[in-house]
Amino acid sequence: MNNIVRTLRRLGFSTSTYSEVILSIKHGNIVNYAPMGVLLVKDALHLRVYMGSLTYKLIMEGAKDCVLNITSDPILFYNSILDKSRVKTVGSIKVKSPRISGCQGYIECLISDVVKTPRYLRVLLNPIHIDYYKIIPTTYKRASSAIIEALVYYTKLPYLKGSSGDLLSKIKLCVNTVFRSTKNPKYRGLARDILLRAYRITQDLSTR
Ligand SMILES: Cc1cc2nc3c(=O)[nH]c(=O)nc-3n(C[C@H](O)[C@H](O)[C@H](O)COP(=O)(O)O)c2cc1C
Repeated sequence: MNNIVRTLRRLGFSTSTYSEVILSIKHGNIVNYAPMGVLLVKDALHLRVYMGSLTYKLIMEGAKDCVLNITSDPILFYNSILDKSRVKTVGSIKVKSPRISGCQGYIECLISDVVKTPRYLRVLLNPIHIDYYKIIPTTYKRASSAIIEALVYYTKLPYLKGSSGDLLSKIKLCVNTVFRSTKNPKYRGLARDILLRAYRITQDLSTR
């Protein structure tokens, strides 16, 4: 096992369980951010990028590299989808794509292979530089996980129109969890906002 793979494993990347990160990517003058699930495959990292996203478009247009930003902060996950102008970046060491400020680790990657399937791109990443901060352990927060889970269901809404009622119910369960597990007004506000946006999308879909 080489050093990069050993470090990726220590950071939590696995061949069997998805690691959720925020991918930042730059192509030409366009910079974009989006949460993505990543699997370790031998000494590479593997992504599925679904059709319809800006990330998909930038990779199809020839983006060469990206950064996997490691964080468990639900505000960074929320901003990377719904409030992109609030995402702050800093330059990377070996790639053109920037890092997202405030994360606990950064994997700078070259995009080494892209395979187009009918619904998504299978993308292989070659990790070339890793930085991470040693931090003291932090407690598990149900509220953070529930906000990120609500975002997963929210981002599926445009693609799974037939299941929008089911997705909305799941978002409501996540929002209940947030309200039961935190008094933090920022977290409660994000949860409420995701639910309101989800209601709006479901209404739009049903009137089409
Ligand atoms: C935790 C989490 C994981 C996600 N994983 C993926 C993924 O693996 N592939 C994907 O295409 N979209 C994934 N998404 C959805 C995208 O992040 C979402 O569609 C995003 O809005 C795309 O942004 P863009 O259009 O700016 O590229 C995930 C969302 C969340 C919240």
